[in-house]
Amino acid sequence: MDVSSTRPLGRSGLKVTIASLGGGGLGNFFRVIDDASAASVVDAAWGAGIRYYDTAPFYGRGRSERRLGAWLDHKSRDSFVLSTKVGRLMAPARGDLEEDGIFLDPSPFNSIYDYSYDGVMRSHEASLQRLGLDRIDILLVHDIGEMMHGDDAPGHLHALKTGGMKALEELRSAGAIAGYGLGVNEVAACLDCLDYGDPTAFLLAGRLTLLEQNGVKPLLAKCLERQVSLIVGGVFNSGILATGAVPGARYNYAEADEAALAQVRKLETVCAAHDVPLSHAALQFPLTHPAVASVLIGAGTVSSVDRSIAGLSTAIPDALWRDLADQGLVDAELAAAAAQHPG
Ligand SMILES: NC(=O)c1ccc[n+]([C@@H]2O[C@H](COP(=O)([O-])OP(=O)(O)OC[C@H]3O[C@@H](n4cnc5c(N)ncnc54)[C@H](OP(=O)(O)O)[C@@H]3O)[C@@H](O)[C@H]2O)c1
Repeated sequence: MDVSSTRPLGRSGLKVTIASLGGGGLGNFFRVIDDASAASVVDAAWGAGIRYYDTAPFYGRGRSERRLGAWLDHKSRDSFVLSTKVGRLMAPARGDLEEDGIFLDPSPFNSIYDYSYDGVMRSHEASLQRLGLDRIDILLVHDIGEMMHGDDAPGHLHALKTGGMKALEELRSAGAIAGYGLGVNEVAACLDCLDYGDPTAFLLAGRLTLLEQNGVKPLLAKCLERQVSLIVGGVFNSGILATGAVPGARYNYAEADEAALAQVRKLETVCAAHDVPLSHAALQFPLTHPAVASVLIGAGTVSSVDRSIAGLSTAIPDALWRDLADQGLVDAELAAAAAQHPG
């Protein structure tokens, strides 16, 4: 695959490169990096031809947006596409900083959920300032849904439907943004949004991977029907599909259990029989579906960027997808489609 090739992003008129950089690493995702290292990560992505960048206020409580914005300051605004998130406001911690254990050494702010009209407008304004940009292309509602909010989910959804959505529609009508959508780890939230909104794209993390495809097919079908794009994040399910089933491998933000390790070993065996590194298959699998516009590279180091670029650029034999399906390791329909349309 040519990582700098582009696909349309929903009906927004924007085109995004099929490989994109996820800003989690720039916000110290499980690893503290300094500003110079963060700049090197973006350098490596830009150098490889990546022109779509995703970030969020939550990633390092502003750190990822500040680092990304500082780097992009030197680039023409029309030469890249940028998405960030709404749904959390950053409140000054003033000596009472809450740690989340995922984004390490955050900036001195605590995160407060707010999916209301004012919350979305304030978040958008604050992101522009942190990024140092006069325009954000896509705003994604961050982590709405039951998986994140449990019993509080109905209240947050109500705030979004009765307020936040109006703000997003207004920003789009005014031309302040080209489109909106969700940035979530759950399929159900996206299906729901297709009923109450007119989204451009969903950033779906960890749910369309070699390890997980449960329930994603109805969403893929509806996205094609409605011309809504998927941006796929978490293609390594936080790491295990890149590192393989090594001791301490990370699966969905925690240490992998034996069941996940066993499943990954099976995937590795089939990949090895085709001489394909597991990480290459993990990166390319989502892009074989026509609803997917881009795959986010999650990286806190230049070597991760380089390895992922290499993984996307190396051809994969169709027979791999068929074997994964034959052995019941990947959904048969998705694998058949992958073999026919190798991305
Ligand atoms: N709710 C949401 O909106 C949401 C949720 C999750 C993700 N996302 C988006 O998707 C992006 C990527 O997600 P993610 O970072 O959670 O997941 P991921 O891509 O599944 O995993 C990233 C992890 O894999 C490691 N890694 C990457 N390439 C590697 C390689 N070739 N070999 C070994 N390890 C490698 C990275 O380690 P290093 O630190 O060593 O580079 C990083 O810790 C995020 O940055 C964000 O933009 C959005």
